Parts: sequence; structure tokens; C-alpha cells
Amino acid sequence: MKLFGRNKNKALDPRKIPMHIAIVMDGNGRWAAKRGLPRVAGHRAGLDSARAIMEESVRLGVKYLTLYTFSTENWKRPQEEVDFIMSLPEEFWTRDRSSIDEMDIRLNILGDLDGLSESTRRVSLEAMGATHKRKGLTVNLALNYGGRAEIIRAANAFAKAYPTGEGSEQDFAKFLYTSDMPDPDLLIRPGAEKRISNFLLWQLAYTEMVFTDCLWPDFNVKQFQDAILEYQTRDRRRGGLKV
Ligand code: FPP
Repeated sequence: MKLFGRNKNKALDPRKIPMHIAIVMDGNGRWAAKRGLPRVAGHRAGLDSARAIMEESVRLGVKYLTLYTFSTENWKRPQEEVDFIMSLPEEFWTRDRSSIDEMDIRLNILGDLDGLSESTRRVSLEAMGATHKRKGLTVNLALNYGGRAEIIRAANAFAKAYPTGEGSEQDFAKFLYTSDMPDPDLLIRPGAEKRISNFLLWQLAYTEMVFTDCLWPDFNVKQFQDAILEYQTRDRRRGGLKV
């Protein structure tokens, strides 16, 4: 099978499709401001981008897609914006249910569910419970997520499980939200900033990173394929030598 990128006829190599892609969905506010729209309009358009990228991930055979939806730092934003972003997972779960089912998507929430509102927590648990046996694309929504908070949470559980300190890296990773999946192969950050912003600090140790100036609501299938093409040119040595 040959998968053609929609740009310059460059073909994606079907043998080198990343198994796990993580995305920092940045630039929604700037996208809205450029159009004289309220910031929440950017987040709504951002959900449309997320839908398109999920569909393309299924088509390409990506197995895990992790989307940074709301960080532990995002609570500092105006209440109206916080409420709006928090309403989007519910909107996605209720309005897109048939596509989610059709695409055999497993929905997973990474983050502190206890810090969520009652309704967001209820919807999160319902979506995870209803889809947890699925074998298609796993979509991880990082919600009320912080990388350091995740590591501290894991470290506390790890210390209890290995009181004499003999646990390995693999043993530690079992206490992370991502315990049943491989680390991301590729991190994509649109929105022109070049930083990690407390996202998946442990898991990104050997992840390839692609940064683009494109704002998230403008990020489409072509940009996604370009990022994967860029990934496919990388030489992943993970600290070893080229083989
Ligand atoms: C960062 O852009 C984006 C967020 C804090 C929210 C991202 C959330 C979504 C796109 C919703 C996705 C929902 C589902 C269910 C998949 P920003 O507001 O920091 O942008 P700026 O840097 O331009 O201000």
C-alpha cells in the first residue's frame, strides 16, 4: 500500500507511521483574535481540527493520539474560557458519538479527574467506560493534566510499591497515566512556540519533535502529513549508534 501525502507528491512511508503521536494544540486564542472573534471561537475551531486529525490518524493507522486539551495551569484563565474548554469533551462525546463508534475510538482521559467539575468528570468516566475495550485508535485527552504532577503522583505510588528502592524505570512507568501504551514517537506543536509546557515530561524522553508556526485551528490533514514526513526523515538512535 502506498499512502500519498497531499503535498508535492511526497509519499508517506506506510512502514514508518508513528504508533503514538502527541500534540500541543496551541494558537486557538491568536487564531480568534486575528479574526476579531472571542477566544472561545478559537477553541471551537480547535475541536474541528482535532476531529480531522483523529480521522486522519485512523486512516493512517496511528494507534495512539494524545491531545493536550487543558493543563493544570489553564485554570488561571478567565472562568468563561475555562468553562468553555471544559465543555468541549462533553460536546465531542455527545455530538460525535456515531463517528467515535464507527472509527472504533477508545477515549481515555489523562489527568486529575478529581479536579474536574462534576459533569465533566461524569462524562469522562462514561466515555472511558464505554470505549475501554476498543482496539482502534486510542485518543488520550490530557485534561487537568500536568507532567510534573503526573510524576509526583507516580513517585508516591512507586515509593509505596518499592519501599526499599529496587524498582526500575519500567516499574515506575506503570504508575503513569500512560502505563498501557508506548511513549510518543512524535510530538507536534503548532502555534509557533518551541517548548514542552509541562506535557508528558517522562514520556517524551526520546520523542521526535516537530514545531510549526501554523495555528492549531489552521492545522489540517496536509500539515499533519507534513509533520509525519518530517518525522520519517529523522534518524532515531535513542542514544545508540546508527545501525
Ligand atoms: C491553547 O491555545 C489551547 C487550549 C488551552 C485548549 C485546547 C483545547 C481544544 C482545542 C479542545 C479540544 C477538545 C477535544 C474534545 C478534542 P491558546 O488558547 O493558548 O492559544 P493562544 O496561545 O493563541 O492564546
